[in-house]
Amino acid sequence: MRIDEILFSQGFGSRRECAGLLVARLVRVACQVVTDPAAEFDPTDLQFEVEGQPWTYQATSLVLLHKPTGYECSQKPTTWPSVMLLLPAALRRRGVQPVGRLDQDTTGLLLLTDDGKLIHRLTSPKHHVPKVYEVGCERPVDEAQVQQLLHGVVLDDDPKPVLAEGCEATGEHSLRLTLVQGKYHQVKRMLAAVGNHCNSLHRSAFGALTLADGPAPGQWRFVTDAERAGLMAKTPR
Ligand code: URA
Repeated sequence: MRIDEILFSQGFGSRRECAGLLVARLVRVACQVVTDPAAEFDPTDLQFEVEGQPWTYQATSLVLLHKPTGYECSQKPTTWPSVMLLLPAALRRRGVQPVGRLDQDTTGLLLLTDDGKLIHRLTSPKHHVPKVYEVGCERPVDEAQVQQLLHGVVLDDDPKPVLAEGCEATGEHSLRLTLVQGKYHQVKRMLAAVGNHCNSLHRSAFGALTLADGPAPGQWRFVTDAERAGLMAKTPR
């Protein structure tokens, strides 16, 4: 594939702008400056640099963002800035969007992609991708609350109970909740339904992906092909 096509496909602007980056000697492949727009490379897993920033070719983008507080997941935010501002322009231009939403005051692991099928695959409860939340609670957590969350609570918009896939107290005022659905304000509403209140919320895992090795709050990284395959693997019930 031609390098100008590769740059164009990855969101680096119009074809003319991509040619401009090459002419301005701002693109490197294997540490070599590339200036010829017609230079051909195998795009599979291609590593390259644009203006000093390392990139990996991805046919469709999947990135992991460590969301800080004070950002909305909406593309058209009302009160707080959009999480999209934490990503470089090339990714925004590709049309990546959040895989489900985290509230403004929720921190943690947020995936973003420009692959619509993948968004469906990762958010549909049918596919059973677990999301793990670390919850700070206003009132002490007791066994009755844990059992209620595991056996199902009724939320105000649906008579069918929603249950946690996993729930354990992690301290007197904290618990770890694993969910496979992504209903609006689900954790906060589930906590309220058992007579407690969510004071802080952090998503620590999405499928097998965690934040254990970073990135730091406000930073992002690409999800590798192996990690993506792991997310797509069938999770046994
Ligand atoms: N549940 C909530 O209540 N808020 C979030 O941000 C995520 C899950």
